[in-house]
Amino acid sequence: MMSTAIKPQPGITEIALYQGGQSSLAGVTDVLKLSSNENPFGPGDLAKEAFAKIAHQLHRYPSTDHLALRQAIAEVHGLDADRIICGAGSDEIITFLCQAYAGPGDEVIHTQHGFSMYRISTLAAGATPVEVPERDRVVDVDAILAGCNERTKLVFIANPGNPTGTMVGSNEIARLAEELPPQAILVLDGAYAEFVDGFDGGAALVDQRDNVVMTRTFSKLYGLGGLRIGWGYGPKDIIDVLNRVRGPFNLSETQLATAEAAVRDRAYVEKCRAENARMRIWLANALAKLGIPSDTSCANFILARFSDQAEAEACDDHLKTQGIIVRRVAGYQLPNCLRITVGDEASCRRVAHAVAGFKESRV
Ligand SMILES: Cc1ncc(COP(=O)(O)O)c(C=O)c1O
Repeated sequence: MMSTAIKPQPGITEIALYQGGQSSLAGVTDVLKLSSNENPFGPGDLAKEAFAKIAHQLHRYPSTDHLALRQAIAEVHGLDADRIICGAGSDEIITFLCQAYAGPGDEVIHTQHGFSMYRISTLAAGATPVEVPERDRVVDVDAILAGCNERTKLVFIANPGNPTGTMVGSNEIARLAEELPPQAILVLDGAYAEFVDGFDGGAALVDQRDNVVMTRTFSKLYGLGGLRIGWGYGPKDIIDVLNRVRGPFNLSETQLATAEAAVRDRAYVEKCRAENARMRIWLANALAKLGIPSDTSCANFILARFSDQAEAEACDDHLKTQGIIVRRVAGYQLPNCLRITVGDEASCRRVAHAVAGFKESRV
C-alpha cells in the first residue's frame, strides 16, 4: 500500500543510491577486493588494541564533544582543536555542510568526475547540484568560477580527486577561495591527502581564510573504513554551525578511541604511505607496459585508461574470472576507465598478471 498524499522532501527521489565497491564474486573464495580504496594492511596494531580495550566500556555513553580525539588530531597536524569536528566518516561532515548551508533554491557545485556523495547530500538537503567540467580529468578552477552565481553556497573539490587521482596545485586552490562569491564555502575534501607526503590537505588555507573547510577521513590510509570516522577543520563560526546539526552521540567511544590511537601512530602512517607510493608506481608502470596508460596518481588507486568502454568492461569481466574486483567508473563519466586500488605487492602482481592475460587473449 502506498499513500499518494505522503511525499518526501523535494529532491530526495532524484537521489541515485550510492554504489559501494563490490566485495564478493559468486563461487569464488580467493577474492581480491580492489574496489573501495581500502588499506591492504588494515588498521595498525595500536588502533586494534584501542578497539579491543573499549569492549569493557560499551555500557558507557560516549563523549559528546570528542575532545580527546580532536586534541590528538590537532597535536599531530598542528591545528586548533576548537575548529575540528568529528563525524561518522567524512561523509557525515559533507552531509552536515549541505544540511546547514544549502537548501531549496541554493546551488552546490561539484566537478565532472567528483565524488558522488556531493550530489547525494546536496539533493538530500533540497538544494540543486551543479556539475562543472574538468580538464583532462583535472579540476578546472576557471570552470568552477564560471559555474558560480549568487545562489552558490558550497563548492566541493576532492584533492587528490576520486576517481581521477589527480591534484590541483595550492596556488589554484587559493585563487579559487579568493574569487568565490562571498556567500560560498569552498570544501576541500582530503580523503586521500594522507597519501601525499608533506601535503596538509588545505589546512593552511583554512587558517588563512573564513570561507574554506577541509574534510579528512580515517577510512583510507588509516585502514578504518569499516569503523566510520572522519573529521572537518574550518573557521570557528562554521564549525559552530555544524556542531548544531551534529547528533550529540554521532560517534561511539569505540570509534573515538580507535581513531585517537590511529592518528597518534605516526610510524604506521609513514609505513603505509611509503608502501602505497612504491606499489602505485610499480602498478602504473606494469599497466603502462601493457598499453594501459594512467594519469600520475596521488592517491591509493590507479585510474587505468582503456581504448574504449568495451575494452574496459571486457577487462573488468576478465579480472572477475580471476577473482579480482576493481571499480567500473562509467557513473563518473569515465566509461573507458577502471579504478584499481593499490594493494600489497602480491595483489599488484596478481592484477598485472591478470591484465597481461587479458591483453594476450585479445591479440
Ligand atoms: C573523495 C572522497 N571523499 C569522501 C569519502 C568518504 O569517506 P568516509 O565517509 O569513509 O570518510 C570518500 C570515500 O570513498 C572519497 O573517496
